[in-house]
Amino acid sequence: MALFARLLGPALAVAAAGLVGGLGPARATPVRAAVAGRGQLLYVEECQTCHEANGSGQASEGIPSLHGVGAAAVDFYLATGRMPEATLLRQAPRKPPFFDTADRAAIVAYVTTTWPGGPAIPTDVSGTDLQGGGDLFRTNCAACHGAVGAGAALAHGAYAPSLHAATPVEVAEAIRVGPGNMPVFDAGQLTDAQVADIVTYVQYLHHPDDRGGAGLGHTGPIAEGFVGLLVGLFGAVGVATWVGHRSDDEPRERAHA
Ligand code: HEC
Ligand code: HEC
Repeated sequence: MALFARLLGPALAVAAAGLVGGLGPARATPVRAAVAGRGQLLYVEECQTCHEANGSGQASEGIPSLHGVGAAAVDFYLATGRMPEATLLRQAPRKPPFFDTADRAAIVAYVTTTWPGGPAIPTDVSGTDLQGGGDLFRTNCAACHGAVGAGAALAHGAYAPSLHAATPVEVAEAIRVGPGNMPVFDAGQLTDAQVADIVTYVQYLHHPDDRGGAGLGHTGPIAEGFVGLLVGLFGAVGVATWVGHRSDDEPRERAHA
């Protein structure tokens, strides 16, 4: 009975959250409790072995507590496929998400209603100042992620990943959450508007208008310079060959004379 009450408590809390948050009009009232319970079910199945039933994590194993981490953290770790982590790698890599959107929302709701606090999922992630976003990016992010967000190695085998796969919401979440070795940027350091401008700049880095020609995957100036050299060389040779062939209708000896 005690166990039943323990299970029922959070389930009801989540059901209430679902009701308030409106987990989706498609979910008719009779199944609401079941849907809300789904977050807990998934937590028990996929998270509890590491993060514990009470969400405390296991400090000795390097598994963090989920108390007050916030919806932004849970959503970020699930959307970028970092969780559930199958092996205890020192840095959970980005992967295709394990759960679909609805299941992710259910887990976020369960974790954040059971252990409240922390940053919410950022909603306004569309900035207006691309130039300012670029300045903020160079000041706050480029040292680790590189000037074009292509990523870079950090000390002790860690790495700052490429930013090219991250969605706008994920970029804003990362800024507020500070996953792994990345620092947290709170509202005192970057306002929501500044975060939105950085997000817009990172999106621009995904598809810059490449005025100087094709971006070649934005691997950086050295590689691009090298490729430029090769293309230049072969281009020059190609043009010379083409020009040479223009005179093919004339006798070879004369063309090369
Ligand atoms: C195999 C063990 C394991 C499993 C299973 C697991 N985690 Fe984790 N989790 C970790 C470790 C280790 C970290 C810290 C690593 C990191 O930050 O990259 C972590 C970090 C997190 C964080 C970041 C916490 C913070 O302080 O910001 C969140 C949120 C999280 N996990 C949620 C989940 C959820 C939700 C599930 C289930 C869907 C889950 N995890 C399953 C081991 C696990
Ligand atoms: C001190 C180095 C450092 C700085 C500064 C930093 N990051 Fe990171 N960032 C990291 C590391 C390390 C990770 C990977 C964390 C992990 O997975 O454990 C990361 C992860 C991310 C991710 C997740 C990428 C993905 O596809 O999963 C995004 C987005 C991101 N950072 C954006 C930013 C932005 C925007 C800024 C500037 C406001 C910034 N970072 C500043 C080190 C840094």
